[in-house]
Amino acid sequence: MRHLTKFALLLALIPAASFAQGIRNTRHDLSNTATGPGPKNTNVNENQICKYCHTPHRAQSTQLVWNHTQTATTTFSWGQDLETPPNNLTATTQGTPLPTTLRLASKRCLGCHDGTVALGDVSNAGGGVAGIIPGLANIPGETNGSGQLSNVAYLVGVGGNMGGNHPVSIPYAGQTYGVASQALADNAIGNYYQVTNAGCVSTSGYCTTAPTNTETDGTRINLVPYTPGSTTQFGVECVTCHEPHNKYGPNPYFTRVNVNAASGLCRSCHNK
Ligand code: HEC
Ligand code: HEC
Ligand code: HEC
Ligand code: HEC
Repeated sequence: MRHLTKFALLLALIPAASFAQGIRNTRHDLSNTATGPGPKNTNVNENQICKYCHTPHRAQSTQLVWNHTQTATTTFSWGQDLETPPNNLTATTQGTPLPTTLRLASKRCLGCHDGTVALGDVSNAGGGVAGIIPGLANIPGETNGSGQLSNVAYLVGVGGNMGGNHPVSIPYAGQTYGVASQALADNAIGNYYQVTNAGCVSTSGYCTTAPTNTETDGTRINLVPYTPGSTTQFGVECVTCHEPHNKYGPNPYFTRVNVNAASGLCRSCHNK
């Protein structure tokens, strides 16, 4: 996810995590009794897992019954190229525009991961009351006094700067989020597996046609519709590569296809 020059450093900093399948005791399990790495709630009365993200009532929206407050950042940029002098990047190398606003699917993740919102900041903190779930502030090396994520190894898009990250909120090759990018996307399709929804087991029902084998698996790729239920416009968001409940454990980093298996995740879209 990060700038290439930081990649080796990060690999050195983050111990190889290996979990069984499922969210329990992963870094996304913030409950009091959770074991394993990452911040855990210090308050013995706060022993839920799901409520940092979902709640059955008084959610932000019925869509995913989403509980957590999304990122406070509204404008995003993609850093600069490596020319001298450097230019601000506004498109991918193939010309697909890089968005200055992100889709909700990715803004949900950044709500915790860009450090603008407390990990416990939700519309239903308990008893139907909005607020910040207590017990997650000032965890050494993990959170600040406001309960926001401060562990730099897990921060993404701080200050709206998405520079150095794989593009998100972009259409998948051959798709379009607007007439302007259609031709470019069509031209690029030869380098990508084509999209299918027949027999696809991903959350969205849209997959690439990368073969299912020990390395690539197009059925696990989760292309996200531009609008819920849309069957014509879909693209790449954080949940395209990641499955936040560790459904595909023991893949590292909640990845849908094991990136350590000869870059199988990447080759599930890019036909290289
Ligand atoms: C409620 C807050 C919250 C939300 C929302 C959230 N995360 Fe996380 N995530 C965390 C925390 C906390 C960690 C662990 C950070 C640490 O160890 O310091 C983490 C860790 C991770 C990791 C590292 C896993 C590992 O084992 O190394 C990935 C990948 C990740 N999150 C992806 C996502 C994606 C993708 C989304 C959106 C679908 C998302 N997160 C949404 C709080 C959140
Ligand atoms: C860190 C945030 C986070 C936590 C914690 C979390 N979820 Fe989710 N959940 C998500 C996101 C993001 C999606 C959308 C995933 C996608 O679009 O691929 C989702 C989707 C879902 C869905 C619908 C789609 C699917 O994948 O089945 C269900 C059901 C669900 N979650 C249940 C749960 C339950 C139950 C828990 C607690 C055991 C839980 N989640 C904990 C973030 C979270
Ligand atoms: C969900 C499918 C998908 C997955 C998985 C995926 N990519 Fe991409 N990738 C894309 C799309 C779509 C683009 C944008 C293409 C365009 O410019 O229109 C892209 C762009 C790129 C680019 C070109 C960026 C630029 O500005 O020129 C590179 C390099 C790249 N991806 C590498 C990777 C690597 C490495 C991985 C694995 C860690 C990966 N991709 C995983 C879909 C994917
Ligand atoms: C094209 C696939 C892809 C997309 C899209 C993607 N990630 Fe990742 N992410 C990965 C891979 C692969 C890793 C593990 C490799 C690494 O960076 O060390 C990773 C690692 C991470 C980590 C662990 C720490 C780190 O920075 O390496 C976090 C946190 C994370 N991603 C969050 C996100 C969030 C939030 C988004 C959306 C803004 C996102 N990812 C979008 C593929 C992706």
